[in-house]
Amino acid sequence: MVDAIFSERRLANIYDDVDSDRSDLDAYIAMIDEFNARSVLDIGCGTGTLACLLAGRGIEVTGVDPAAASLEVARRKPYADRVQWLAGDATTLPPLQVDMVTMTGNVAQGFLTDEDWASPLRAARAALKSAGLLVFEVRDPAREGWREWNREQSSRHLEIPGVGGVETWTDLTDVHLPFVSFRMTFVFETDGAVLTSDSMLRFRSRDEIVESLRRADLIVKDVREAPDRPGREFVFVAEAAGTPQDGSGSAGNGRVVGPGLPKLQPGAK
Ligand SMILES: C[S@@+](CC[C@H](N)C(=O)[O-])C[C@H]1O[C@@H](n2cnc3c(N)ncnc32)[C@H](O)[C@@H]1O
Repeated sequence: MVDAIFSERRLANIYDDVDSDRSDLDAYIAMIDEFNARSVLDIGCGTGTLACLLAGRGIEVTGVDPAAASLEVARRKPYADRVQWLAGDATTLPPLQVDMVTMTGNVAQGFLTDEDWASPLRAARAALKSAGLLVFEVRDPAREGWREWNREQSSRHLEIPGVGGVETWTDLTDVHLPFVSFRMTFVFETDGAVLTSDSMLRFRSRDEIVESLRRADLIVKDVREAPDRPGREFVFVAEAAGTPQDGSGSAGNGRVVGPGLPKLQPGAK
């Protein structure tokens, strides 16, 4: 089941206001230029901010997300008519051959079990042209970023055009590593409605991710930093190698270089 923040229409409609600073996407756009990608599959595209930005730059984009309410928001954006929107997850993709697959906004941490995580990796590998790239970010568990996910540090008051005042904050609800759970609360001042969204994320180590990529025939070329959150994120750049599922890929060492990317979270990026 998809978290309410993405799937509940009233919350999906304010997602972009809650997470209004999308400078995290700059680094992805820079990588698309750096690697000269002309076609992109965005897994977990959400409200489609990256997909529409890329479509506006002439990139052929497919965005997939299981949250219909988020896709409704995406479809209203400039250049949305140039994007192929798919409702579902990576297992329901049509045959694709793209230069780059992206998972922005820490989408990767939402895949909780090993099989949940293996599935989008296999799908990404299958969708990539030979030597195409999968790029995505995750938080570095060593930074224990969840310690900031509390009401005191995350409370905000937003004035949203057409919606009115919204009070929002995040409470950490459970830490049972590698799993971290939290609740986002939204109070709509116009009618007093209180909506909540519960989430659980998995914090995988860098080595675990390198190994999971290797098993999907994706070779780590680079592990970068998020330029707006230095020292807090791993940004993986992995190349499609061998024939999918043939086991011929071999993992690179993955070196940390900077600068690289970010992402919506609990009040603080
Ligand atoms: C934190 S949001 C990030 C959205 C978008 N990438 C961005 O940067 O704004 C996580 C997204 O992952 C999507 N998601 C959840 N489960 C998924 C799955 N199994 N496959 C693909 N996307 C999924 C959610 O619906 C949500 O839109």
